[in-house]
Amino acid sequence: MLNLTDVHKTFIGPHGSTVSVLRGISMVVDAGSSTAILGRSGSGKSTLLAILGLLDQPDSGRYEIDGRDTIGLRDGALARIRSEQLGFVYQRFFLLSHLSAYENVETALHHGGPVPRRRRRQLVMEALSQVGLADRVTHRPVQLSGGEQQRVAIARALVRNPSIVLADEPTGALDEQTADSVMSLLMETTRSRGAAVVVVTHDAQVAARTDRVLHLVEGAWAG
Ligand SMILES: Nc1ncnc2c1ncn2[C@@H]1O[C@H](COP(=O)(O)OP(=O)(O)OP(=O)(O)O)[C@@H](O)[C@H]1O
Ligand SMILES: [Mg+2]
Repeated sequence: MLNLTDVHKTFIGPHGSTVSVLRGISMVVDAGSSTAILGRSGSGKSTLLAILGLLDQPDSGRYEIDGRDTIGLRDGALARIRSEQLGFVYQRFFLLSHLSAYENVETALHHGGPVPRRRRRQLVMEALSQVGLADRVTHRPVQLSGGEQQRVAIARALVRNPSIVLADEPTGALDEQTADSVMSLLMETTRSRGAAVVVVTHDAQVAARTDRVLHLVEGAWAG
């Protein structure tokens, strides 16, 4: 479904120095699969996830989604693929503080093709129910615990039935016990919707729950 081939990415540092962050990364993500990406801080995990999520472009290499080349697509086309096929979950939940849980999930339906109001309501309520928050729909982020906020973010990532969910340290801001339940939820909900998941993590326990684990070392796969 996702096919990344020999991707390189270099950033220009503050003093004009160049940092080679990804050095020849190839990977295939099959429909419905789960992948954990482990690696030390600075190894290029977030950079790789941003490229997978079409938020950044590689300097060289190929990236196909469902057999379609994404390199060189215009912003509008990229945004459309992002909103229709990809879901994102981040360490810092990135919920909008002035919106309720319901409205935060609904924001994901504002992009891409229009969804009729009744259908929107049904989709949002399904997603919130799936993460166990049907009774928290009117709560704003400050009125929710960290774990609950991340569950809202998971509902937002799922509401459009993406074919893949990309999660960058989704449990990094949570205590151990909460992290555990949020991770279980992420794995269960993506599986039940048939979505693939790629999760960046420092936590080997998280990695133990995925189909495969890939180790990134200084921008290249280990081993
Ligand atoms: N926009 C940028 N400009 C310059 N350097 C960057 C930029 N983005 C990332 N880098 C550098 O690229 C390297 C990899 O960054 P990245 O965020 O991908 O690491 P990471 O593996 O996600 O680390 P962490 O576990 O700390 O989140 C780092 O050394 C970082 O300083
Ligand atoms: Mg990172």
